[in-house]
Amino acid sequence: MASPLRFGVWALTHGSWASRHHPLDPPDASWKRVSRQIREAEALGYESTLLAQHIIHPSGDDQDLLENWTGAAALAAVTGKIELISAIKPLLVHPVVLAKMALQIEDISQGRFGINLVNAWYKPELERSGIGFPDHDDRYAYGREWIEIVRELTAGKRVDFQGRHFHIEAYQLRPGDRFRPRPTVYLGGESEAARALAAESADVYFMNGQPFDDIRALIQDVARRPRRGPPIRFGMSAFVVARGSDAEAQDELAELFAISEQDKPTRARLVGNADPEAQMFRTAAKEARVGTNGGTSARLVGSYDTVAERILAFNAIGVELFMLQFQPVDANMRRFAEHVIPRVRWLQARAA
Ligand SMILES: Cc1cc2nc3c(=O)[nH]c(=O)nc-3n(C[C@H](O)[C@H](O)[C@H](O)COP(=O)(O)O)c2cc1C
Repeated sequence: MASPLRFGVWALTHGSWASRHHPLDPPDASWKRVSRQIREAEALGYESTLLAQHIIHPSGDDQDLLENWTGAAALAAVTGKIELISAIKPLLVHPVVLAKMALQIEDISQGRFGINLVNAWYKPELERSGIGFPDHDDRYAYGREWIEIVRELTAGKRVDFQGRHFHIEAYQLRPGDRFRPRPTVYLGGESEAARALAAESADVYFMNGQPFDDIRALIQDVARRPRRGPPIRFGMSAFVVARGSDAEAQDELAELFAISEQDKPTRARLVGNADPEAQMFRTAAKEARVGTNGGTSARLVGSYDTVAERILAFNAIGVELFMLQFQPVDANMRRFAEHVIPRVRWLQARAA
């Protein structure tokens, strides 16, 4: 049986998810911009959005960033249907505080909130704050204790926890979740430690866009790992270039690659500041792509029919949520909603 299939868009918390030099898409991370983008996405039929987390911009300290937790709370109040997923790096916020914030946004949004557990890769963000940057697997060990506490507290349970990092006595948060057992837990990361923790503690494993066979292997790997509760579900990030024909889409992709030549110095600096142990960057080094988090590596580039068929192929192996990037964002978010979503729904109905 095919999985459910939902489309989301990355909120423009970082101002852009592709070139920072596109003439028709200058980076803009303002609240005004992001709130307008997500309200329009909701009206167009997108069912989810992801707010990434950085405290300082990986493309440079001088670049604007939207704070994603306060942003998610505000979006909860000005939207009505769209799921809001907010990323969190455990080292930045104590789990009792974060669980309280998550329950508050769950309440404002009336049951539309999710957290995306991310493990940190941009060293200056943590090192220069004085928080420190533990080794890759130590960050995941910290995250394992952290998410256990957040899961229990957001489920309304009374928590006693004695771990290596946290000592919590008789803690309980009220009000609990009035809409479902607790907000959804996503986890995004590619390493062995990330996959093990996702299987153990996440509801949805979030993947960076990759070629079809690599995504199938990742899904099989995570799905077979031991876990409690219902089977894990899968989401994937992807940058889309959809046009009237395959040739037009390839021309547009070439144009986007040409524009992104100007981003090379910024990109080199960013990679130089990334944790060399982060699997995500090792995968990204395999091929050039447009967009972040795998970008065009998932090959959602082609005619409207081609892109719709590739989406259904990913869905058939278990990808339920497609979290999309575009450039320029507004025109292409509309184009995808007008031309690709209806094709996907039509093909699904025909197959049913
Ligand atoms: C869908 C998705 C979203 C992510 N969002 C963020 C984010 O908001 N902030 C961040 O610092 N890292 C983010 N990451 C990066 C990962 O959490 C992780 O730090 C990175 O993959 C390195 O860990 P790994 O070695 O397990 O791959 C994201 C990853 C994925 C797959």
